[in-house]
Amino acid sequence: PVITVLLCMCAYLGGSVLFALPVCKIWGLPDPRAQGSGNPGATNVYRTGGWRPALITLTLDAAKGWLPVWLAYNAGLSALTQAMVALFAVTGHMIPVFYRFKGGKGVATALGAGLALAPVTTASMATLWLLVIWRWRISALASVIAIVSGPLISAFIEPETLPMFGLLAILVVVRHRNNLIRLAQGRETSL
Ligand code: G3P
Repeated sequence: PVITVLLCMCAYLGGSVLFALPVCKIWGLPDPRAQGSGNPGATNVYRTGGWRPALITLTLDAAKGWLPVWLAYNAGLSALTQAMVALFAVTGHMIPVFYRFKGGKGVATALGAGLALAPVTTASMATLWLLVIWRWRISALASVIAIVSGPLISAFIEPETLPMFGLLAILVVVRHRNNLIRLAQGRETSL
């Protein structure tokens, strides 16, 4: 139906807004794409600007994942459609139409979409992320472990969302391929 197509388009377009960039501009920070890891995401904003602009980036990037799924839910669309909308939002962040299709790694946007679709699974994943950060202080390691745990946790708690978490895990892990290479070589920077 028309509403599904519209929501998928809006999710993709909204996802394409990389909030790290306006936040850094307003905060007077350098473009995150030219700093640190070069990734336009909350972690890399943290490297140059500290936790305040990083938290704002995280919240806004998560909100653009959460909002379209929430709208799809309230429009009475099926769980499968909601999952599709979530994937469009994350894809928007990864290959954004507004930035020559060069985007981020999708972790914050997946967090927001996940909270709307499967809050218990997603809260468990976020807890795991925090535990890894607390222990090793490496954001990419925390993100990869948390996203890979998604399909495993959802299988027990919210099994109807397992296919979506499976796809999200694949997308996010692929986007972390350079981080994984650096991790394997022991060169990944800690926070
Ligand atoms: O969410 C992205 C994070 O997992 C890694 O970011 O900047 O360390 O590549 P970064």
